[in-house]
Amino acid sequence: MKPVSMIVGTGHSAPEKVLTNFDLEKIVDTTNEWIIERTGIRERRIKSPEENTSDFCTEAARQALEEAGMAAADIDLIIIGTVSGDMRFPSTAIFVQAKLGAHNAAVFDIAAACSGFVYGLTLADAMIATGQYRNILVIGAESMTHMTDWEDRNSCVLFGDGAGAAVVIPSDGERGILSTYLGSDGRLAHLLYSAGGGTVAPATHETVDNRDHYLKMAGPEVFLHAIKAMSKSAQKALDRSGLTAEDIDMLIPHQANIRIIEGTAKRFGIPLERVMINIDRYGNTSSASIPIALNEARKSGRLKSGMNCLMVVFGGGFTWASAIVKF
Ligand code: ACO
Repeated sequence: MKPVSMIVGTGHSAPEKVLTNFDLEKIVDTTNEWIIERTGIRERRIKSPEENTSDFCTEAARQALEEAGMAAADIDLIIIGTVSGDMRFPSTAIFVQAKLGAHNAAVFDIAAACSGFVYGLTLADAMIATGQYRNILVIGAESMTHMTDWEDRNSCVLFGDGAGAAVVIPSDGERGILSTYLGSDGRLAHLLYSAGGGTVAPATHETVDNRDHYLKMAGPEVFLHAIKAMSKSAQKALDRSGLTAEDIDMLIPHQANIRIIEGTAKRFGIPLERVMINIDRYGNTSSASIPIALNEARKSGRLKSGMNCLMVVFGGGFTWASAIVKF
């Protein structure tokens, strides 16, 4: 099957400030050893009060545009996957459009939690296939620590902030997106959510006192569903592309937990040398996780031209998604 769209530029950005496991030992009842053993995380980047999600998006987008050799004015669509944007409305994409000067673009956000970037990539591919848009900026970005409950040791050790971006244009017929797959199951929404400020728990003194504005997560349940969703999702993308796991030169899994990453790689017989892992340095950056890893894989020279890359992700909702891209 000939690809209709391809990625010609990537970039990423994360806050300067590093929060290590040793820093967390001073905040909650945890240890560096526990966090590394149970999650694989050593440190994460956390935003300062002055930084906003749109700032990380804008820097990541500038890098992606530069590599693509394009100007902001060339972009005709911006799609941002985020659940921790600058404001409840308008979209974070609106602020990114203004900061970039991408005034010829239509812009919007999608809320698919960690799956947001791969959902956006799928949408961009479909938009290019219909001929409606040609030069699309897809971004995954989060300020997860903005909704982190620093009194909840079960979740506060997991998350970090940042953004990753990709420029997607019509394929040259050789390289590009070979297959995508999206899934969701709303029956699992109660396992991972943040209700405060929505219609369920409008912002009042009481909802703030209840800590409703923070992320709530049933970790072990999420873990079990994640393993299943990652495997199912990866298999779907393989089936749709006509490839097998042996054809995959690089696996870029969602960076949520090293045990989930290793379990997924093992399930498909993909050796860890072919798996992109940066969870130790960033933690779980939700929808930014895949595009940050993608950019690091490309810019470090590990993901080379001609290689097949399988991206697979799961997130709150539940949502899950996968894509196979030939670079
Ligand atoms: N430090 C020390 N001990 C801890 C910590 C901590 N930070 N957190 C939990 N524990 C304790 C628990 O209280 C429990 O103690 P107990 O046995 O005395 O009750 C013990 O460690 C084991 O707890 P579990 O929750 O069973 O630990 P588990 O091995 O499942 O690891 C974890 C927990 C890391 C959260 C794991 O379940 C996980 O990664 N789940 C998936 C989470 C995830 O990926 N979330 C993101 C989804 S993506 C998105 O949409 C944002």
